[in-house]
Amino acid sequence: MRIVVVPDTAAMGKRAADLVEKEMGKHVNPVIGLATGSTPLPLYKELIRRNREGGLDFSTTITFNLDEYVGLPTDHSESYRRFMNENLFDHINIVPGNTHVPNGMADDVEAECENYERMIADCGGIDLQVLGIGGNGHIGFNEPGSSLGSLTRIKTLTEKTRQDNARFFDSIDDVPRYAITMGIGTIIAARKCILLASGEGKADAIKDACEGPLTAMCPASVLQLHRYATLIVTEDAAGKLTLPVED
Ligand code: PGA
Repeated sequence: MRIVVVPDTAAMGKRAADLVEKEMGKHVNPVIGLATGSTPLPLYKELIRRNREGGLDFSTTITFNLDEYVGLPTDHSESYRRFMNENLFDHINIVPGNTHVPNGMADDVEAECENYERMIADCGGIDLQVLGIGGNGHIGFNEPGSSLGSLTRIKTLTEKTRQDNARFFDSIDDVPRYAITMGIGTIIAARKCILLASGEGKADAIKDACEGPLTAMCPASVLQLHRYATLIVTEDAAGKLTLPVED
Protein backbone atom coordinates (compact mmCIF):
# COMPACT_ATOMS: atom_id res chain seq x y z
CA MET A 1 0.00 0.00 0.00
CA ARG A 2 1.44 3.33 -1.05
CA ILE A 3 0.19 6.31 0.94
CA VAL A 4 0.71 9.76 -0.53
CA VAL A 5 -0.18 12.75 1.62
CA VAL A 6 -1.00 15.99 -0.17
CA PRO A 7 -1.72 19.47 1.21
CA ASP A 8 -5.19 19.98 -0.26
CA THR A 9 -7.92 18.62 -2.51
CA ALA A 10 -6.55 20.35 -5.63
CA ALA A 11 -3.22 18.55 -5.16
CA MET A 12 -5.12 15.31 -4.52
CA GLY A 13 -6.97 15.75 -7.84
CA LYS A 14 -3.71 16.40 -9.73
CA ARG A 15 -1.86 13.42 -8.24
CA ALA A 16 -4.80 11.16 -9.03
CA ALA A 17 -5.09 12.58 -12.57
CA ASP A 18 -1.36 11.85 -13.11
CA LEU A 19 -1.98 8.17 -12.29
CA VAL A 20 -5.12 7.96 -14.44
CA GLU A 21 -3.37 9.65 -17.38
CA LYS A 22 -0.33 7.38 -17.07
CA GLU A 23 -2.56 4.29 -17.02
CA MET A 24 -4.59 5.50 -19.99
CA GLY A 25 -1.37 5.88 -21.96
CA LYS A 26 -0.57 2.19 -21.54
CA HIS A 27 -3.65 0.71 -23.21
CA VAL A 28 -5.42 0.95 -26.57
CA ASN A 29 -8.75 0.68 -24.73
CA PRO A 30 -8.09 1.70 -21.13
CA VAL A 31 -10.71 0.41 -18.69
CA ILE A 32 -11.09 2.81 -15.80
CA GLY A 33 -13.31 2.26 -12.75
CA LEU A 34 -14.88 5.45 -11.42
CA ALA A 35 -16.49 6.63 -8.19
CA THR A 36 -19.07 9.25 -7.25
CA GLY A 37 -19.23 11.43 -4.13
CA SER A 38 -17.64 14.76 -3.41
CA THR A 39 -14.10 13.39 -3.04
CA PRO A 40 -13.29 12.57 -6.70
CA LEU A 41 -14.61 15.92 -8.00
CA PRO A 42 -11.14 17.59 -8.04
CA LEU A 43 -9.89 14.59 -10.07
CA TYR A 44 -12.73 14.94 -12.59
CA LYS A 45 -12.13 18.68 -12.83
CA GLU A 46 -8.48 18.03 -13.63
CA LEU A 47 -9.27 15.31 -16.18
CA ILE A 48 -11.67 17.70 -17.93
CA ARG A 49 -8.96 20.37 -17.98
CA ARG A 50 -6.39 17.96 -19.41
CA ASN A 51 -8.89 16.76 -22.03
CA ARG A 52 -9.59 20.32 -23.13
CA GLU A 53 -6.16 21.87 -22.79
CA GLY A 54 -3.69 19.03 -22.68
CA GLY A 55 -5.03 16.68 -25.33
CA LEU A 56 -5.80 13.82 -22.94
CA ASP A 57 -7.90 11.63 -25.22
CA PHE A 58 -10.84 9.61 -23.89
CA SER A 59 -12.17 8.46 -27.27
CA THR A 60 -11.14 4.84 -26.68
CA THR A 61 -11.56 4.78 -22.90
CA ILE A 62 -14.13 2.51 -21.27
CA THR A 63 -15.45 3.26 -17.79
CA PHE A 64 -17.32 1.32 -15.14
CA ASN A 65 -18.79 3.09 -12.12
CA LEU A 66 -18.80 1.45 -8.73
CA ASP A 67 -22.43 1.82 -7.80
CA GLU A 68 -25.89 3.28 -8.25
CA TYR A 69 -28.91 3.80 -6.02
CA VAL A 70 -31.81 1.43 -6.57
CA GLY A 71 -35.05 3.12 -7.59
CA LEU A 72 -33.79 6.53 -8.72
CA PRO A 73 -34.48 7.25 -12.39
CA THR A 74 -31.30 8.16 -14.29
CA ASP A 75 -32.50 11.76 -14.69
CA HIS A 76 -33.05 12.15 -10.91
CA SER A 77 -30.79 14.92 -9.60
CA GLU A 78 -29.03 12.45 -7.24
CA SER A 79 -28.66 9.46 -9.53
CA TYR A 80 -25.04 8.49 -10.00
CA ARG A 81 -25.52 8.26 -13.77
CA ARG A 82 -26.56 11.89 -13.80
CA PHE A 83 -23.71 12.81 -11.44
CA MET A 84 -21.18 11.24 -13.79
CA ASN A 85 -22.67 12.85 -16.90
CA GLU A 86 -22.71 16.27 -15.29
CA ASN A 87 -19.34 16.11 -13.57
CA LEU A 88 -17.26 14.28 -16.17
CA PHE A 89 -18.72 12.52 -19.20
CA ASP A 90 -20.52 15.53 -20.73
CA HIS A 91 -17.27 17.52 -20.69
CA ILE A 92 -14.79 15.08 -22.26
CA ASN A 93 -14.57 13.26 -25.59
CA ILE A 94 -15.66 9.90 -24.21
CA VAL A 95 -18.11 7.79 -26.24
CA PRO A 96 -21.31 7.72 -24.12
CA GLY A 97 -21.82 4.04 -24.93
CA ASN A 98 -18.42 3.27 -23.40
CA THR A 99 -19.51 4.58 -19.98
CA HIS A 100 -21.18 2.11 -17.64
CA VAL A 101 -23.12 2.76 -14.44
CA PRO A 102 -25.26 -0.02 -12.91
CA ASN A 103 -28.93 0.35 -13.81
CA GLY A 104 -30.73 0.98 -10.52
CA MET A 105 -34.09 0.84 -12.30
CA ALA A 106 -33.60 -2.67 -13.70
CA ASP A 107 -36.65 -4.93 -13.27
CA ASP A 108 -34.37 -7.88 -12.59
CA VAL A 109 -31.66 -6.53 -10.31
CA GLU A 110 -29.90 -9.87 -9.99
CA ALA A 111 -29.60 -10.18 -13.78
CA GLU A 112 -28.35 -6.58 -13.95
CA CYS A 113 -25.62 -7.40 -11.42
CA GLU A 114 -24.52 -10.53 -13.28
CA ASN A 115 -24.53 -8.62 -16.54
CA TYR A 116 -22.37 -5.87 -15.02
CA GLU A 117 -19.76 -8.41 -13.98
CA ARG A 118 -19.90 -9.97 -17.46
CA MET A 119 -19.40 -6.62 -19.18
CA ILE A 120 -16.34 -5.88 -17.03
CA ALA A 121 -14.90 -9.31 -17.89
CA ASP A 122 -15.69 -8.85 -21.59
CA CYS A 123 -13.65 -5.63 -21.56
CA GLY A 124 -10.69 -7.53 -20.11
CA GLY A 125 -11.15 -6.37 -16.50
CA ILE A 126 -10.51 -2.99 -14.94
CA ASP A 127 -7.03 -1.51 -15.41
CA LEU A 128 -7.36 1.14 -12.72
CA GLN A 129 -10.15 1.63 -10.19
CA VAL A 130 -10.75 5.00 -8.52
CA LEU A 131 -12.24 4.76 -5.02
CA GLY A 132 -13.53 7.05 -2.29
CA ILE A 133 -14.00 5.88 1.28
CA GLY A 134 -17.01 6.24 3.55
CA GLY A 135 -16.70 7.54 7.09
CA ASN A 136 -17.39 3.93 8.10
CA GLY A 137 -14.67 2.53 5.83
CA HIS A 138 -16.96 1.47 3.01
CA ILE A 139 -15.76 1.30 -0.60
CA GLY A 140 -18.44 1.55 -3.25
CA PHE A 141 -21.53 0.72 -1.20
CA ASN A 142 -19.83 -2.24 0.45
CA GLU A 143 -20.77 -1.45 3.99
CA PRO A 144 -18.95 -2.88 7.04
CA GLY A 145 -19.54 -6.62 7.22
CA SER A 146 -19.57 -7.06 3.43
CA SER A 147 -17.95 -10.23 2.18
CA LEU A 148 -14.38 -9.53 1.11
CA GLY A 149 -14.96 -11.81 -1.90
CA SER A 150 -18.31 -10.28 -2.97
CA LEU A 151 -19.22 -9.45 -6.56
CA THR A 152 -21.71 -6.88 -7.93
CA ARG A 153 -24.99 -7.18 -6.02
CA ILE A 154 -27.70 -5.26 -4.20
CA LYS A 155 -26.83 -3.95 -0.72
CA THR A 156 -28.82 -2.29 2.03
CA LEU A 157 -27.32 1.06 2.99
CA THR A 158 -26.45 1.56 6.65
CA GLU A 159 -28.04 4.33 8.65
CA LYS A 160 -24.62 6.07 8.81
CA THR A 161 -24.31 6.13 5.01
CA ARG A 162 -27.90 7.33 4.59
CA GLN A 163 -27.23 10.11 7.10
CA ASP A 164 -23.94 11.03 5.36
CA ASN A 165 -25.74 11.25 2.01
CA ALA A 166 -28.88 13.00 3.34
CA ARG A 167 -27.18 16.34 2.63
CA PHE A 168 -27.87 15.78 -1.07
CA PHE A 169 -31.59 15.03 -0.60
CA ASP A 170 -34.54 17.04 0.78
CA SER A 171 -34.73 14.78 3.81
CA ILE A 172 -33.25 11.51 5.06
CA ASP A 173 -36.51 9.78 4.13
CA ASP A 174 -35.73 10.51 0.48
CA VAL A 175 -32.34 8.75 0.61
CA PRO A 176 -32.70 5.36 -1.08
CA ARG A 177 -32.34 2.29 1.14
CA TYR A 178 -30.68 0.06 -1.45
CA ALA A 179 -27.92 0.30 -3.99
CA ILE A 180 -26.28 -1.87 -6.61
CA THR A 181 -22.56 -1.95 -5.99
CA MET A 182 -19.51 -3.69 -7.36
CA GLY A 183 -18.41 -6.16 -4.71
CA ILE A 184 -15.16 -6.02 -2.80
CA GLY A 185 -14.00 -8.97 -4.90
CA THR A 186 -14.82 -6.98 -8.06
CA ILE A 187 -12.84 -4.00 -6.78
CA ILE A 188 -9.71 -5.86 -5.80
CA ALA A 189 -9.70 -7.69 -9.12
CA ALA A 190 -8.84 -4.32 -10.71
CA ARG A 191 -5.17 -4.37 -11.66
CA LYS A 192 -4.55 -1.08 -9.83
CA CYS A 193 -6.59 0.83 -7.24
CA ILE A 194 -6.34 4.43 -6.15
CA LEU A 195 -8.30 5.56 -3.12
CA LEU A 196 -8.84 9.26 -2.47
CA ALA A 197 -9.78 10.79 0.87
CA SER A 198 -10.05 14.36 2.09
CA GLY A 199 -11.25 16.00 5.28
CA GLU A 200 -10.94 15.29 8.96
CA GLY A 201 -14.13 13.22 8.84
CA LYS A 202 -12.21 10.50 6.98
CA ALA A 203 -9.24 10.35 9.38
CA ASP A 204 -10.54 7.40 11.43
CA ALA A 205 -11.52 5.43 8.32
CA ILE A 206 -8.08 6.04 6.76
CA LYS A 207 -6.31 4.96 9.93
CA ASP A 208 -8.42 1.78 10.12
CA ALA A 209 -7.89 1.05 6.41
CA CYS A 210 -4.10 1.48 6.56
CA GLU A 211 -3.05 0.55 10.07
CA GLY A 212 -5.94 -1.50 11.40
CA PRO A 213 -6.45 -5.23 10.89
CA LEU A 214 -7.68 -6.50 7.54
CA THR A 215 -11.35 -6.90 8.34
CA ALA A 216 -14.76 -6.82 6.69
CA MET A 217 -15.67 -4.27 9.38
CA CYS A 218 -13.49 -1.79 7.47
CA PRO A 219 -13.98 -2.81 3.81
CA ALA A 220 -11.20 -0.44 2.61
CA SER A 221 -8.69 -2.44 4.67
CA VAL A 222 -8.86 -5.07 1.90
CA LEU A 223 -6.52 -2.80 -0.06
CA GLN A 224 -3.77 -4.06 2.27
CA LEU A 225 -3.92 -7.23 0.16
CA HIS A 226 -3.70 -5.44 -3.18
CA ARG A 227 -0.40 -5.33 -5.06
CA TYR A 228 -0.95 -1.91 -6.59
CA ALA A 229 -3.02 0.19 -4.22
CA THR A 230 -2.22 3.89 -3.85
CA LEU A 231 -3.97 6.10 -1.31
CA ILE A 232 -3.91 9.83 -2.01
CA VAL A 233 -5.03 11.62 1.12
CA THR A 234 -5.05 15.21 2.27
CA GLU A 235 -3.16 16.13 5.46
CA ASP A 236 -6.33 16.30 7.54
CA ALA A 237 -7.55 12.88 6.37
CA ALA A 238 -4.07 11.47 7.12
CA GLY A 239 -4.04 13.12 10.57
CA LYS A 240 -4.42 9.91 12.56
CA LEU A 241 -1.80 7.80 10.74
CA THR A 242 1.19 6.88 12.85
CA LEU A 243 3.45 5.14 10.33
CA PRO A 244 5.69 7.14 7.93
CA VAL A 245 4.07 8.12 4.62
CA GLU A 246 5.22 9.73 1.34
CA ASP A 247 4.59 13.27 0.17
P1 PGA B 1 -17.75 11.34 -0.32
O1 PGA B 1 -18.26 9.83 -0.31
O2 PGA B 1 -16.70 11.40 -1.37
O3 PGA B 1 -18.96 12.16 -0.71
O4 PGA B 1 -17.24 11.63 1.05
C1 PGA B 1 -17.30 8.81 -0.31
C2 PGA B 1 -17.97 7.47 -0.15
O5 PGA B 1 -18.98 7.39 0.56
O6 PGA B 1 -17.46 6.50 -0.73
